[in-house]
Amino acid sequence: MRLAGKTCVVTGAARGIGRAIAEAFHREGGIVVATDRDAAAVLDMAATIGCRALALDVAREEDWDALVRAVPTVDVVVNNAGVTGFEDGMVPHDPENASLADWRAVHAVNLDGTFLGCRYAIRAMKARGTGSIVNISSRSGLVGIPGAAAYASSKAAIRNHTKTVALYCAQQGWAIRCNSIHPAAILTPMWEPMLGTGPDRQARTDALVADTPLRRFGRPEEVAALSVLLASDEAAYVTGTELTIDGGLLAGSAASPG
Ligand SMILES: NC(=O)c1ccc[n+]([C@@H]2O[C@H](COP(=O)([O-])OP(=O)(O)OC[C@H]3O[C@@H](n4cnc5c(N)ncnc54)[C@H](O)[C@@H]3O)[C@@H](O)[C@H]2O)c1
Repeated sequence: MRLAGKTCVVTGAARGIGRAIAEAFHREGGIVVATDRDAAAVLDMAATIGCRALALDVAREEDWDALVRAVPTVDVVVNNAGVTGFEDGMVPHDPENASLADWRAVHAVNLDGTFLGCRYAIRAMKARGTGSIVNISSRSGLVGIPGAAAYASSKAAIRNHTKTVALYCAQQGWAIRCNSIHPAAILTPMWEPMLGTGPDRQARTDALVADTPLRRFGRPEEVAALSVLLASDEAAYVTGTELTIDGGLLAGSAASPG
């Protein structure tokens, strides 16, 4: 019961990593408010685990205003909702051919959504002067990704904004912590368009993790475990930091001697 009595808002909680975080927080005694832009799906998952659900599109300021009215004070906010830009098909996302509209659409969810989530959290935590904000960035926020420029840019900006929020809150004298998590490949529905359903699915899966030292995808529950730690009072002295969860990927590079 490491989160007993703490009110916890999780965005993008209908499936994947967000769902695993909501489930883990619930198991640890948190009072979970699961949110997602897919209202039907988040209601369904909330009914399954027995928590509260709200429709919230993180890119829409008016949805955050509604959350302020529904959940005026909060202890933990996880800004998890994110998109790659490939959800509706394989459009170009390299820096030469990406359209401005596609670039902006990814930033609207990943970066604007995280900015609005942090702003909501600060305002809803400052009266008590304590809380934990967890921003789900990515390994892609730490390295360049030639075919996913907007995703990489938005995730890098989340990493930096996390540190700004952490310093700002400390400067105000609040024990409101803010940290980022940087997962590499975690097997969630986000990967489905890239893995496909054909006979070569296993080969594609293996190829995607061939360079990962632990040679497998990570699991959503493993990201959730880190989120529980950062959300809990055990991490009371941890702020402004970035935690990678990548099977060892960033420990070396292609240039590392064997
Ligand atoms: N899966 C990975 O390998 C991986 C790696 C690094 C980082 N991440 C990050 O982890 C987070 C979760 O990824 P996932 O793999 O679980 O993705 P997913 O696609 O399986 O789930 C994302 C969820 O977010 C919701 N969502 C999308 N846009 C939204 C919006 N505007 N407002 C509210 N909800 C919205 C979706 O409806 C969905 O329920 C994302 O930020 C992603 O970038 C994932």
